[in-house]
Amino acid sequence: MITVADIEKLFHDLLGRIKNDKLRQQVVDTWLLGCQEGGWHSVADLLKMPFTLLTDTKGVNFIEHTIAVTEGALALVKAQSDTYARMPYEVNSDRLIAGGLLHDVGKLVEAEPDGKGGYRISQSGKCARHPVSGSMLAARAGLPMEIINIIACHAKEGEGRPQVLETIFIHQADFATFDPLVMLNKGQIIR
Ligand SMILES: [Fe+2]
Repeated sequence: MITVADIEKLFHDLLGRIKNDKLRQQVVDTWLLGCQEGGWHSVADLLKMPFTLLTDTKGVNFIEHTIAVTEGALALVKAQSDTYARMPYEVNSDRLIAGGLLHDVGKLVEAEPDGKGGYRISQSGKCARHPVSGSMLAARAGLPMEIINIIACHAKEGEGRPQVLETIFIHQADFATFDPLVMLNKGQIIR
């Protein structure tokens, strides 16, 4: 069984940077709920799960992806705030980190082992993509709508929709991990 301590260990550094205790707890609660609902019983299984079924991830797993996207979004914000004489908008770092850690949490119920060493879209995933199922998990854990906007709108579902600032940064960091793999797999990277 995956425990609170397991989730806290996986995301230790980033969770520690969330200042609001309640928000930090709700992030962990949402992950636990996703593991329970999705039938994930060990951390080893989570570390084997590819972060997407849409392209070959070349071994990049779901946990690595979640951390890389969150760190990437933080770095994008830092690059601007360290460079601009005056930052034109204020990014909420608690919201950015919580949203980053949760943006793909719905994949815990969207994907499942196929029994042959691979993974497939689950019945839940056929019914609702991870931005939808992740939003539902987060709502059950009591997260505010601004965090749910990050989950709901970080992918194509969010195109052209109003977004909190943090959604924009998570979206860009997310696609910076996804597009290179898609293009690599399609032979579209110029060397
Ligand atoms: Fe993602």
